[in-house]
Amino acid sequence: MERADFSAAFPDNEAMEHLRDAMALFWTMSEGSVAVDREARITWINEKYCRLLGLADATEAIGHPVEEIIPESRMRQVVETGRPILLDVMRFGERHFVVCRLPIKDAAGEVEGALGFVFYDRVDYLRPIIDRFLALEAQLDKAQSALARERRARYSLSNFVGVSPEIVELKAKARRFAVREGPVLILGETGVGKELLAQAMHVASQRTAGPFVAVNMAAVPETLLESEFFGVAPGAYTGAERRPRPGKFEIADKGTLFLDEIGDMPLAIQAKFLRVLQEGEIEPLGSNQLKRVDVRIIAATSQDLEAKVKSGEFRADLYYRLAVLPLRVPPLRARTEDIPALAERILDDIPKDPGFGNWYVTEEALELLQRHSWPGNVRELRNVLERATALSDSEALDADTIRSGLSFSPGAEAGADDETPTRLADVVAQAEQAAILRAVAQCGGDKTRAAKLLGVSRSQLYAKLKGFGSEE
Ligand SMILES: Nc1ncnc2c1ncn2[C@@H]1O[C@H](COP(=O)(O)OP(=O)(O)OP(=O)(O)O)[C@@H](O)[C@H]1O
Ligand SMILES: [Mg+2]
Repeated sequence: MERADFSAAFPDNEAMEHLRDAMALFWTMSEGSVAVDREARITWINEKYCRLLGLADATEAIGHPVEEIIPESRMRQVVETGRPILLDVMRFGERHFVVCRLPIKDAAGEVEGALGFVFYDRVDYLRPIIDRFLALEAQLDKAQSALARERRARYSLSNFVGVSPEIVELKAKARRFAVREGPVLILGETGVGKELLAQAMHVASQRTAGPFVAVNMAAVPETLLESEFFGVAPGAYTGAERRPRPGKFEIADKGTLFLDEIGDMPLAIQAKFLRVLQEGEIEPLGSNQLKRVDVRIIAATSQDLEAKVKSGEFRADLYYRLAVLPLRVPPLRARTEDIPALAERILDDIPKDPGFGNWYVTEEALELLQRHSWPGNVRELRNVLERATALSDSEALDADTIRSGLSFSPGAEAGADDETPTRLADVVAQAEQAAILRAVAQCGGDKTRAAKLLGVSRSQLYAKLKGFGSEE
């Protein structure tokens, strides 16, 4: 494989330029390289790697699923997620190797396959590569947030569906708040559309050309939050976990930082956060220099923040600072007149079998939907409709179909924590059911394709669906 092949594999922009250079570097320095197709089957492997694996030649590997030849390989993950694994350690027998895996995408951004490189674990030899990786990773982060921004720009306030007086008023308020600079606090139960609203407000603001960066407070381990927000100065640490990298504040410069699940922000970081909001300056870890950042904050939570302030779990001063422009998204059960429009919009997004017309909900079925209490709000409505389309033989979703869609509705998927099953068997069964129904819906009801997607046989899929009470 020539260097020119790599060039063809990457679209022409700056971050990719650097990647191409790095590829050439990897190529000469690596102890082996391998390519797979989008099914993670080996399409090419070089001689060095064959020797390392004890293969006589490449023909023993080509066409095989990568794990058959390299048991610990994570190339499949790369083709499935489209994300690189820039630094990883893999064991061959007694020896450890540093490995790097990169997706190959076509001009449309679809994953075509992946490339893997293997390096010896001699650290000084690897140092320049690691340093180069870190720089590239930071660039890639930026390139990815640019991509995410492009995707997000689709969600304007017109995507926030609703005809009820509550939603009409909420949208008017959101539009007014969007053009202001103060922090916005979005409150509302799980699944009501807080994140969608935050994105839409970013798009409606003067910062629309800047980045929209989301951080979920509940998803980032407490010990990492500080570096996540404020970044780590170059050279502050050595090693792969504590690498120099920009924080989310810096990445969100001139844009919007969306703080999801703000109620879960640990007290320890709240004070630092407040200072940044007041001063507009951050201090990356391991640096003694302040950096100015220009970031607009939108925070969201489904928790009762005022109660958290009273109980001392949330700082009052931070709360008042964030709650300058408050918005409350009402629960779905309080605005059932939005359900027909929401159902229509959601069904538009669900793929259909060729020859099918548009999905629609019959009059009687709509009444059923409007009587449900929707603990999981719009997200739950989406799940119920997806399930219904997976179960339906025609484009008309009738009362029976909706009823079975609703009866599947596991409280946990709806986001109601107290209804989350705790028995492992229940958790597994629920996850399995959700995955199967999602796959069937994704394939527009085509069970053969769904079975393939799920990696099970058609008969296994049918047996499972029968178990769920589907007609099939
Ligand atoms: N008004 C709406 N119009 C169209 N889609 C909506 C609306 N509200 C919510 N949705 C859809 O419902 C789903 C859940 O929305 P979102 O993730 O924004 O909720 P959330 O309030 O952030 O939930 P959580 O608190 O669980 O994080 C998404 O798929 C979103 O697109
Ligand atoms: Mg959310």
